[in-house]
Formats: sequence, structure tokens, C-alpha cells
Amino acid sequence: MSAVESTTATSRLPETISSRLRLPAIAAPMLRVSGVELVKAACQAGVIGAFPTANPRSHEALDDWLTELDETLSENDAPYCANLIMSRPETQKDIEILLRHRTEMVITSVGSPAPVVPALHEAGVFVLADVATMKHVKKAIEAGVDGLVLLTAGAGGNTGWMNPFAFVRAVRAFYDGPIALAGGMSDGVALRAARELGVDLGYIGTKFIATQESLAEPEYKQMLVDSTMDDVLLTQAFTGMNTSFLLPSIEAAGLDPATLDHNADVASAQAQYGGSAYSDKSGPRRWKDIWSAGHSVSGVSDVPATREIIDQTLREFHGDR
Ligand SMILES: Cc1cc2nc3c(=O)[nH]c(=O)nc-3n(C[C@H](O)[C@H](O)[C@H](O)COP(=O)(O)O)c2cc1C
Repeated sequence: MSAVESTTATSRLPETISSRLRLPAIAAPMLRVSGVELVKAACQAGVIGAFPTANPRSHEALDDWLTELDETLSENDAPYCANLIMSRPETQKDIEILLRHRTEMVITSVGSPAPVVPALHEAGVFVLADVATMKHVKKAIEAGVDGLVLLTAGAGGNTGWMNPFAFVRAVRAFYDGPIALAGGMSDGVALRAARELGVDLGYIGTKFIATQESLAEPEYKQMLVDSTMDDVLLTQAFTGMNTSFLLPSIEAAGLDPATLDHNADVASAQAQYGGSAYSDKSGPRRWKDIWSAGHSVSGVSDVPATREIIDQTLREFHGDR
């Protein structure tokens, strides 16, 4: 029996994964934040460490990151998990590299997982897809994914907007596979409550931005310490999708939140704040200058080591409030 199963409801995860977790959680993938050090620290502390394959910035760098993870992590550590952003053209080549390294887990986001599930399954990869609506849920299940990440209100990055209680219970009414819950997982008490709802894994992003190992700039980490959930703005202005950004970072970039186009579409947000060759490079960039965090920013009070956050969350999960 795994460490997690011994204290909580039965895990729906494969034993090969659940037996290596101290805490039923994923350190969620975050652009420009999740690097090798954060992933390693999470996995070594018993939490699945995820990162977007966009973060290494090139196929060669992705290969190097995976080599380092292969060489550092032991078979008893939690697995790392690669995040494929489906809208990126580099995804197919990224998959070839992941398969060469025998990556065990993948999370797909921003787009249907259908194009990548067959190749990943053929190689035995465990595939989760992130979803924000019931329609997404049905499509992901039809595509044959092994589990779902429910994005709910208040999550950092490209967020969901559904109420987590209602969303989990609506999905559990017909789905018995593994569910991870994203949005507001700020401590172990929240994680315990989520398990009670029928969730298998907490999907924790924001808390791990303010860690010693994250790639975030020191000023970004400090802004998390200084902010509360009142400072989180939900807007489409920068990505064309519902995304949580920190108001103080918008103001520091010289922008007036009142004059932003909160209903921007993907193309116009990309042109104005994205990093493509077509954009105006002189203005502030999303993710780089305009920083994201979710509602669980209210639970950030310092910048500890990743292991300290995981140990603290574990204590709370086991009943220490
Ligand atoms: C700065 C930042 C960058 C993110 N980048 C990604 C990403 O590249 N891919 C992805 O699937 N999700 C991304 N997310 C979303 C997280 O994976 C996760 O869903 C979210 O952080 C969970 O909510 P929480 O922040 O309240 O814990 C990002 C979130 C943040 C805060």
C-alpha cells in the first residue's frame, strides 16, 4: 500500500505512480517558472514535478533537461511530468524527445489531446488533459486520456471559471478515472477537502512560484508574498483566454487595468503582449513582465525551499491545521 493510500481514500492512479507519492499532488507546470531545479525538488520530496516543454526554449535544451532528470531522480522519487501546450507547433518534435527519455507522464493543455494520445499510449505514457468545461471533459474522455485536470475558478495562469465543488461532482457523476483539481490549492487542508470531494491529486501552481528553486525573478516572488487574492485580476487582455494576472505587475509595467481590453481575442493579445516575431517587442510581455498568480497567493507568506512547502502541506493534509 502506498504512502498516500495508507491515509486517504483509494487512489485511482496506477500503483507505479501512487506508490512513489508522499503527498497526492502535482507541482503544476508554469511557463518561465518551472525549471529543472523545481521539478527535481518536487519529485525528491514526493510530489509529481511538472514543467511545460516550452520552458527549455529549444529541442536541445529539452533533451538536456530530461537527461539531467534521468540522471538525478531515483526510481523511488515521484515521476516528473511534461506539459505539452497543444497550440505550439513544436509539440510533435517534443514528443519524440520525451519518448526517447521514456517519460512516464504527460499533461496536455490549451487544445484537444486527441492528436497526441495514440503515440503517447503506444509508448505507455500516462496522459492527463486539462479541461475547463463539461464539453472539454467529454472530448478529453473521447480522446482516451487516462485522467483529467479540472481547471477551476481562481487558478493561476490560464484558469478555469467553474466552481470546484460543482465541477468535480458533475464530472464524478459519470467519470471514475483519476482527477486532479487546479485552483486555490493553497495548503494541505484544501487538499484534504479536495480528496473528500473525489479528487485524486491537487494541482498546485502558485505556491511553488515563491520557492527558492523556481525560475521566477526575486521581484516576482516578493510580489507574491506582498499580494492577496484581491490583487488577482481575471482578464483576457494578455492572452485572449481567461487568465489570472497580478494587478501590481500590470501597474508596474505602466498599464492602467481600467483601459485594458478584457475581452481581447487570442490573435490581438498575441500581437500586443505575446513573444512572436510579429509583436511589438518594445512593450510589456505577458508572463515575462506581467506576472500571473491564482487566488492561493493569499497563502504565500515567504519564499521557502520546495521541500519545506511539501512537508508543511503534508502535515496539514494529515490533520495539522
Ligand atoms: C505563472 C504561471 C504559468 C503557468 N503556465 C502554465 C503552462 O505553461 N502550462 C499549463 O498547462 N498551465 C500553466 N499554468 C497553470 C498551472 O499549471 C495550474 O493550472 C495553476 O497554477 C493551478 O492553480 P494555482 O496557481 O491556484 O495553484 C501556469 C500558472 C502560472 C501561475
